[in-house]
Amino acid sequence: MASANQILIAVIGAGGVGKCFLSQLQALAARKPSPKLSLCYISTSRKALYNDDYSPINIDNALDALAASSKAPPSLTKVVEYLAAAPAKVVLVDNTSSQDVAELYPLALERGLSIVTPNKKAFSGSYQLWQDIFSAASTSGAKVYHESSVGAGLPVISTLKDLVDTGDSVTKIEGVFSGTMSFLFNSFAPTEGKGGQWSDEVKKAKTLGYTEPDPRDDLNGLDVARKLTILARLAGLPVESPTSFPVQSLIPKELESCTSGDDFLEKLPAFDQQMEDTKAEAEKAGKVVRFVGSIDVAANKVKVGLEMFDRAHPIAALKGSDNIISFYTKRYGNNPLIIQGAGAGGDVTAMGVTSDLIKVLSQIA
Ligand SMILES: NC(=O)c1ccc[n+]([C@@H]2O[C@H](COP(=O)([O-])OP(=O)(O)OC[C@H]3O[C@@H](n4cnc5c(N)ncnc54)[C@H](OP(=O)(O)O)[C@@H]3O)[C@@H](O)[C@H]2O)c1
Repeated sequence: MASANQILIAVIGAGGVGKCFLSQLQALAARKPSPKLSLCYISTSRKALYNDDYSPINIDNALDALAASSKAPPSLTKVVEYLAAAPAKVVLVDNTSSQDVAELYPLALERGLSIVTPNKKAFSGSYQLWQDIFSAASTSGAKVYHESSVGAGLPVISTLKDLVDTGDSVTKIEGVFSGTMSFLFNSFAPTEGKGGQWSDEVKKAKTLGYTEPDPRDDLNGLDVARKLTILARLAGLPVESPTSFPVQSLIPKELESCTSGDDFLEKLPAFDQQMEDTKAEAEKAGKVVRFVGSIDVAANKVKVGLEMFDRAHPIAALKGSDNIISFYTKRYGNNPLIIQGAGAGGDVTAMGVTSDLIKVLSQIA
């Protein structure tokens, strides 16, 4: 049974981020005598581990125990019922990219479960879901934090919230929001030297593990559009969905119907000239091309796609697969507040989740 001053942690998803989160949770629980953090539930899409009496799961070997578990996960509504009946406050950590789990948030919050997550789906889906989430949280008093849903562990969302909450006027947000796109353009159109062929760079990015298994899932721009949707809403724009504003896809029309990622990569070289022309046009103007997202708050305009930047511009000078996000505000004037660094990776993403958990603990414990 749970004891007084205990917080129960339920983790859904134990992949790249989930595993790193568990190791950070283990260290946090060891460091933090109060409130006592107990893992009461963990699942993947196929397996679950929990005890009917909420007795703690040993965090140190939770992954092995989960792998050995013969329990299938209960339905998501059953999971909420189980957690809502717990004898202590519960924080639900969603480390999946599941739309089904995201759609459960209003119910979970209504039932008093706080949520921390790097999952973009809930906050970049329909505007109705966004409203349902925050109204459920404000009614029940449960907390919801999602720092790692934009820029992984970089403090992008907390910074934007602080700017808005302290009364600054955010006029524009602009940046490179995808590690994959960052890597691709930093090597395809570097500020120094010639850069590679577009299709070679896409293949290289896939081999190095920077792309999704099918690179079209990065090149269609939707991942960036989802992040822009989240930031635009936080800046006060009621963006309906990530498809309700212009998003430039880098998938040639003819290759949209390729049967697999490999088929796509094989046919991509035939379309290299389009990207070469774009690069040459930028070079002629003394610039480089980058894949960026921008939100013009005053004009209520959000867009995602290719833009040209002077070689000395911070967006042009980005390295590796880093993200960069610039906040233009009334207080910061002509020199934006800039956040830059790794925008992907298990450990940094889990850091955003763990720091959200610490914020929740400070409010509910
Ligand atoms: N990796 C990064 O660098 C990064 C950066 C920023 C944000 N994120 C976000 O972090 C989240 C996790 O990313 P990841 O890289 O860890 O993904 P991942 O390696 O694919 O892991 C996803 C985990 O979620 C589980 N899962 C999926 N659907 C589920 C469901 N309906 N119920 C229970 N478990 C379910 C999967 O279980 P199975 O294996 O059984 O399917 C797996 O354990 C995503 O939302 C991602 O967008 C990741």
